[in-house]
Amino acid sequence: PISSCTSPSCGCAASRSCCAPAVPAEPPPPRGPHRGGGGAAPEARDGKPSARMVLLKGFGQDGFRFFTNRQSRKGRELDSNPFASLVFYWEPLNRQVRIEGSVRRLSEEESEQYFHSRPRSSQIGAVASRQSTVIPDREYLMKRNAELEEKYRDVPVPKPEDWGGYILQPDVVEFWQGQTSRLHDRIVFRRLRDGAEPPGPMTRRGEGEWVFERLAP
Ligand SMILES: Cc1cc2nc3c(=O)[nH]c(=O)nc-3n(C[C@H](O)[C@H](O)[C@H](O)COP(=O)(O)O)c2cc1C
Repeated sequence: PISSCTSPSCGCAASRSCCAPAVPAEPPPPRGPHRGGGGAAPEARDGKPSARMVLLKGFGQDGFRFFTNRQSRKGRELDSNPFASLVFYWEPLNRQVRIEGSVRRLSEEESEQYFHSRPRSSQIGAVASRQSTVIPDREYLMKRNAELEEKYRDVPVPKPEDWGGYILQPDVVEFWQGQTSRLHDRIVFRRLRDGAEPPGPMTRRGEGEWVFERLAP
C-alpha cells in the first residue's frame, strides 16, 4: 500500500521536514524456536504491512531520521523486523520519492538532544502518552498531562526511556516524475550489496555502490 502526505500544513516542498510513513515490509523468514518469543509485535510477524506518518527530522549520507516512542506499535514492529519504506509526495511538482531500507536506533545522545530541542509542551506530551496503548478516555490523558506540567514546572522534562530516534539507511530509492501524458519517468537507484542482483545490460553505474535503472511507468 502507498500512503502519501496530504497534510496542507506539511510544507513538503518548502522545507526539509516532511511527513513520511514507516511501513514494515515482509518479515524475514522464521528463525527457529524463538520466533514467537518475547514481546515482539504480532502485527509485523504476520507479514501485513502497516503505515503511518512520521516527521522526517533530517537526512544525509547515512540515512533518514525520525523520532518516536520505541514501545509504540511501530517501535515494536521495527524491533521484530528492522526494515521500512518511506514515501514522499510533492503534489505541486507531481513528484514522488520512494525509499526502502534497514532501520537502526539512533544513539541516546542524539535522541536526548532532539527531545530537549522540542517545545516543552511536546516533551510533556511525550511523557504523558504511552503511545499505542489503550486508554479510557481523553480526560485521562488531559489529567496526566496536567499532573506532569505541575511536576516538571521548574525542572527539565526527562526524556522517557522508550522515546528515541531511528535512522533508515536506504537500499533502494525511486524517483517518480509525473508527466502530462501517462508516460511518467521512473528512475530507481539500488545499492549493490553482496548478493544483490548484478547489473544488467540496461543498468547504469551511479556513485559508490549505487546503480540505477529506468522502469516502465
Ligand atoms: C503529519 C503527521 C506527522 C506525525 N509525526 C510523527 C512523528 O514524528 N513521530 C511519531 O511518533 N508520530 C507521528 N505522527 C503520529 C503517527 O502517525 C502515529 O499515529 C503514531 O506514531 C502512533 O503510531 P503506531 O501506534 O502505529 O506506532 C504523525 C502524524 C501525522 C499526521
